[in-house]
Amino acid sequence: MTEDRKITGADAPREKAKPSVAQGLSTATATPEQTLQSSVLCPQSSELYAVFGNPVAHSRSPRIHAAFAQQTGERLCYETRLAPLDGFADAVRQFIQAGGKGANVTVPFKEEAFRLADELSPRALAAQAVNTLSFTAGRVFGDNTDGAGLVRDIENNLAFPIAGRRVLLLGAGGAARGVILPLLEQNPATLTIANRNADKARTLAELAASRARGTGFAELAGQSFDLIINATSASLAGATLPLPDGIFAAGSLAYDMMYGKDETPFLAQARNAGAARRSDGLGMLVEQAAESFFIWRQKRPQTRDLLAELRAS
Ligand code: ATR
Repeated sequence: MTEDRKITGADAPREKAKPSVAQGLSTATATPEQTLQSSVLCPQSSELYAVFGNPVAHSRSPRIHAAFAQQTGERLCYETRLAPLDGFADAVRQFIQAGGKGANVTVPFKEEAFRLADELSPRALAAQAVNTLSFTAGRVFGDNTDGAGLVRDIENNLAFPIAGRRVLLLGAGGAARGVILPLLEQNPATLTIANRNADKARTLAELAASRARGTGFAELAGQSFDLIINATSASLAGATLPLPDGIFAAGSLAYDMMYGKDETPFLAQARNAGAARRSDGLGMLVEQAAESFFIWRQKRPQTRDLLAELRAS
């Protein structure tokens, strides 16, 4: 998550693409100077962190980490780094040379960050993607906090325990893969992965060693679920999903890993289908950041006030 995968994902949570100057800065316009400049604003007494992406100017991570630093009294600076599409590894190496202690990684570099790391956490291995890098003693440690952020948002912020629930995960791309292990760790009654391309869902379910079931959307007919999580990128294109009637059980929670100012197409679809509770992925964004902050600083920030502030802004 860091942010949105597809602004295109947070950072699996996905921020809905907004036409903006920030996006206009993307891809080919990242000059080496922009990418490699060391921080001019970070005082020497502070430690340097950044989020790497392309595009990245839209990222809310600097604001989130600045708030965490202030709250916990940690002395750190956190910046955005626009890496060229073919220059992520170089950009990270330069950042380490400039004194960088850690970094978040967002679209489109999470898989490259996975390959770059010298050591990986079990959850990064399961996700095959890295959103959090730590640089210590000349080594690069890769972790993935997206799934933990999702689980924490659902369980703590939304007070919806996953244990014993029938969970439906929509999508079988990188965003879905990143959250399967953390979801299974909460011991849901069942985990069903449904995807437009059903074979991809089945392959992903097999990786979960029979603890999940893969299927197409049409095969969901006649079933209902307590927690339905949208990890597809369909909402980014404004598309709804071909979900059969009746899949939202009484009291169910519909969760969209994407977020934006307006109601997402998936959440509108869930509302029309009678989903009792609905949430976008802004809380996931904040919680995955808190988990990264904890990895780097061994302090767990409180997230409630910041989340409320971000919702209001
Ligand atoms: P990400 O890293 O964001 O997960 P991805 O790996 O390209 O991106 O995966 C995108 C996911 O969204 C896939 O599950 C894709 O379904 P397919 O595998 O069938 O392509 C899903 N998706 C994208 N657009 C969709 C749409 N209009 N309807 C249904 N599913 C869609």
